[in-house]
Amino acid sequence: MTRGEPKPTTTDAGIPVPSDEHSLTVGPDGPILLNDHYLIEQMANFNRERIPERQPHAKGGGAFGRFEVTNDVSAYTKAAVFQPGAKTDMLIRFSSVAGERGSPDTWRDPRGFAVKFYTSEGNLDIVGNNTPIFFVRDPMKFQHFIRSQKRRLNNNLRDHDMQWDFWTLSPESAHMVTWLMGDRGIPKTWRHMNGYSSHTYSWINADGERFWVKYHFKTDQGIDFLTQDEADRLAGEDADYHQRDLYNAIESGNYPSWTLYMQIMPFSDAKTYRFNPFDLTKVWPHGDYPLVEVGRFTLNRNVTDYHTEMEQAAFEPNNLVAGTGLSPDKMLLARGFSYADAHRARLGVNYKQIPVNQPKVPVHSYSKDGVGRTINATDPVYAPNSYGGPHADPSLTAEAGLWYTDGEMVREAYTLRKDDDDFGQAGTMVREVLDDAARERLVSNVAGHLSNGVSEPILRRAFEYWRNVDKNIGDRIEKAVKRNG
Ligand code: NDP
Ligand code: HEM
Repeated sequence: MTRGEPKPTTTDAGIPVPSDEHSLTVGPDGPILLNDHYLIEQMANFNRERIPERQPHAKGGGAFGRFEVTNDVSAYTKAAVFQPGAKTDMLIRFSSVAGERGSPDTWRDPRGFAVKFYTSEGNLDIVGNNTPIFFVRDPMKFQHFIRSQKRRLNNNLRDHDMQWDFWTLSPESAHMVTWLMGDRGIPKTWRHMNGYSSHTYSWINADGERFWVKYHFKTDQGIDFLTQDEADRLAGEDADYHQRDLYNAIESGNYPSWTLYMQIMPFSDAKTYRFNPFDLTKVWPHGDYPLVEVGRFTLNRNVTDYHTEMEQAAFEPNNLVAGTGLSPDKMLLARGFSYADAHRARLGVNYKQIPVNQPKVPVHSYSKDGVGRTINATDPVYAPNSYGGPHADPSLTAEAGLWYTDGEMVREAYTLRKDDDDFGQAGTMVREVLDDAARERLVSNVAGHLSNGVSEPILRRAFEYWRNVDKNIGDRIEKAVKRNG
């Protein structure tokens, strides 16, 4: 804490108050008085300090920084933030998914990696994770998935039985579960992990050419992880281990950075690629779509008020600037609705006027009024008008042309292509990416998890699930669970 010049305490109305310690009473031993408006204001404010925590991703922290472009990718996007020489202020929030606001940072969980670029064309948010993939590929299953990872209805306990029940009945989760149970499932610190958009997005260049893209933010600190034992110990010793690490690193001038690379797929490849490139449970192999460097961001400023700058930060995948866009990924399209809805519920309809969420460009929207509005609305209050009010730019509609599609309204899975399956890429990771020691830790992590409250027939299904990922790893997991008794 820094020691400033002494200032008089005031009420929220700026009126100096006579005491920080004593309520107004009738004599020193008498009853307190209702007209002690300062006491009442303090009690009332205290009772309203907590706002609803985020439904998923409640525990987290982050910092401010700067993004600088280091390579010319103007052939792929016209977005000002990605043009050569551009420097853009940004905000990041890291988080875990299933735990509550006070939960330990070192629980095994994916980590959120939410970035807000305050660009010269409005805010661009890339709301990703530290994983290039996800557990499910249809938004209908997302809510169920999160509930299965949180707490049971009756005893309010987290429950491995519930987690494996959902996972084994949802084989599309296998790739992500393999990732989660491996070393990267507990990063050493937030500084030592990558971030990925996970989803496929679109880019469009100045000539109107479109591309499918994936964002990869690679840590310049190097990947590092905690073993299960280290993480369990830290959960008891310092529940805020990751938060503390990031804050202290920045405070001491040890600024962490990440390099942004893109995978870029020509627009027409998507129709004929050997698997659905919009399926969120799959990566694009680097061999098919190599990484193209774009730039680097450095975190150099801690928040000064966690509530106003972090708890009230609102990231949403639909904040996309010209030159960037969505894709036909069903999950991404649903997220385009869900986040803004969550923010309206959690922060109120005018959440974009909270300073941390305000763009650094003028806002001329036709939204007006509502609880908590602090910035004057547009006059005249309607469009079209004859008084020089804001008018839209029809050339921007090109952005919306994501995909040419027609057909009946259906509730169906994506159409299967030749290499679309649930287990293939998980198997590749186990066999070709992990080394022997990492495979051994994977077996031990999964067996430990399964040995903790998972019942039949879910246990049997779990062994089968792992044998589908890789026969050998499945056998080893079954043996280890039986050994654990
Ligand atoms: P590559 O050999 O080119 O890529 C393998 C990638 O795996 C590495 O670049 C690294 O990603 C990542 N990785 C390394 N160790 C681990 C670990 N312990 N846990 C999780 N990921 C790790 O092969 P492909 O691109 O053909 O992918 C093969 C498999 O690698 C995929 O099936 C997928 O499971 C996994 N993978 C692929 C990624 C991709 O975008 N293509 C990204 C991450 C994983 P990074 O460089 O991003 O750190
Ligand atoms: C947070 C919904 C999938 C990353 C949230 C929140 C909601 C939500 C409602 C809380 C927002 C808030 O209150 O501020 C959904 C839905 C999904 C989905 C409906 C699928 C249909 C994903 C995926 C990723 C992701 C696939 C990563 C690629 C995040 C992150 C946060 C978050 C990082 C925290 C943002 C922050 O730090 O404020 N999600 N989510 N989500 N989600 Fe998702």
